[in-house]
Amino acid sequence: MFETSVYKNRRTRLKEKMSGGLVLILGNGEAPANYTDNTYKFRQDSSFLYFFGLNLPGFAGVLDIDSGEEYIFGDDVDIDDIIWMGPQPQVKDMAAKVGVARTAPFAKLADCLREAITRGRRIHFLPPYRYRNMLLIEDLLGIHHSLVKKYASLELIKAVVALRSVKEACEIEEITGACNIGYEMHTAAMRNCKPGVKEQYIAGIVEGIAASYGSMVSFPVILSQNGETLHNHDHSQILQKGRLMLTDAGAEAVSSYCSDFTRTVPVGGKFTDRQKDVYNIVLAANNKAIEIAKPGVTYQYVHLEVCKVLAQGLKELGLMKGNVEDAVKAGAHALFMPHGLGHMMGLDVHDMEDLGQIYVGYDDETRPINQFGTSSLRMGRRLQEGFVITDEPGCYFIPALIDQWKEQGMHKDFLNYDKIETYKDFGGIRIEDDILIIPGGSRFLGDRRTPVTVEEIEAVMGE
Ligand code: GLY
Ligand code: MN
Repeated sequence: MFETSVYKNRRTRLKEKMSGGLVLILGNGEAPANYTDNTYKFRQDSSFLYFFGLNLPGFAGVLDIDSGEEYIFGDDVDIDDIIWMGPQPQVKDMAAKVGVARTAPFAKLADCLREAITRGRRIHFLPPYRYRNMLLIEDLLGIHHSLVKKYASLELIKAVVALRSVKEACEIEEITGACNIGYEMHTAAMRNCKPGVKEQYIAGIVEGIAASYGSMVSFPVILSQNGETLHNHDHSQILQKGRLMLTDAGAEAVSSYCSDFTRTVPVGGKFTDRQKDVYNIVLAANNKAIEIAKPGVTYQYVHLEVCKVLAQGLKELGLMKGNVEDAVKAGAHALFMPHGLGHMMGLDVHDMEDLGQIYVGYDDETRPINQFGTSSLRMGRRLQEGFVITDEPGCYFIPALIDQWKEQGMHKDFLNYDKIETYKDFGGIRIEDDILIIPGGSRFLGDRRTPVTVEEIEAVMGE
């Protein structure tokens, strides 16, 4: 938990941005896995954490924009809870730590909202993503659960996005901590990446390292020698010499701030020449982003410049042909990189995605580009100092996509299908770092950059 003033400031700034009414921010409840008392690891709602700081289930926060009053609703534990959980602090004491003086039992939330509704006051809430909170909003506000997302407040969404997008120094410190855990996770994956080892064994080590620092992974580990499948959660294969292992994994710090890194390494510890050639193109693309990302440029621009680096490299390898600018404009490079360069990161690994990607990654000035590949870019808008974004270009040889494009004659002026055919057994490479936008540029997050050059990776794998 941060100092009390951090939460007070954030709520004051939110109130300043809102025109009136009540703001309701629901925390999360426990989520049963297979029966009520056997729950998934508790994960608090990120906006609740951001404004109200309490990392426990069963709370809600309310801000009265007109009077300025702030409330936390939640229940004190009873003797039964104390027997199973041990003594717990009182809600009023926890609320005081985040600067909220008014507390009440959770059941009083309904009364508070009913009174506001009776008086015709607007109640602003964020789009819920858990069924529990959809049902709760139905109970509290009388909006059918299937419609609650539609009735979420755009004014509140925009205000929350504006605040959470620009990271404070205390947040950067937490993200840096999560990145340092990511370093441990990825170097352990490199050291264990040997022929004959099961992917799941390494995925388990990676997840265990995140857990051992007191928290968990920031999303389910992606780890596979079939790295051409972008989000491959199948870890059932035995690693084979000559293949590449792609690991996309991050940590969630105890504070719930995230990291997200991808490294791709050769099973057995030495890149082949063919692997090195493609790897160095993706690395150049990754480095290009950090070189040009700075306040005032759009990340859509950075994405497209990075795609040009990829296309230029692939042209030099004989996989692409023709004019690079035209190829990227046409979207031919997306055969190899059918995803965007990156996303915002913070309390969520895809920060604020629950609030609607269009409001997080785009604005009136920068609109999404509706073209295969670039349409998957989650973050496109103009960068500001304090934004934390991922930089994650990749190059994949997806046999089904190659077959489809070839059959349809897609972009044949830019693609050398005969040569591409010979790479169908290659797999995929992605290199992902987390970057902070700073005055005049950007910098990597984490005390040390996770080994990334061919030489650095081979050195770690040889240890
Ligand atoms: N690292 C997983 C993702 O960004 O989707
Ligand atoms: Mn990512």
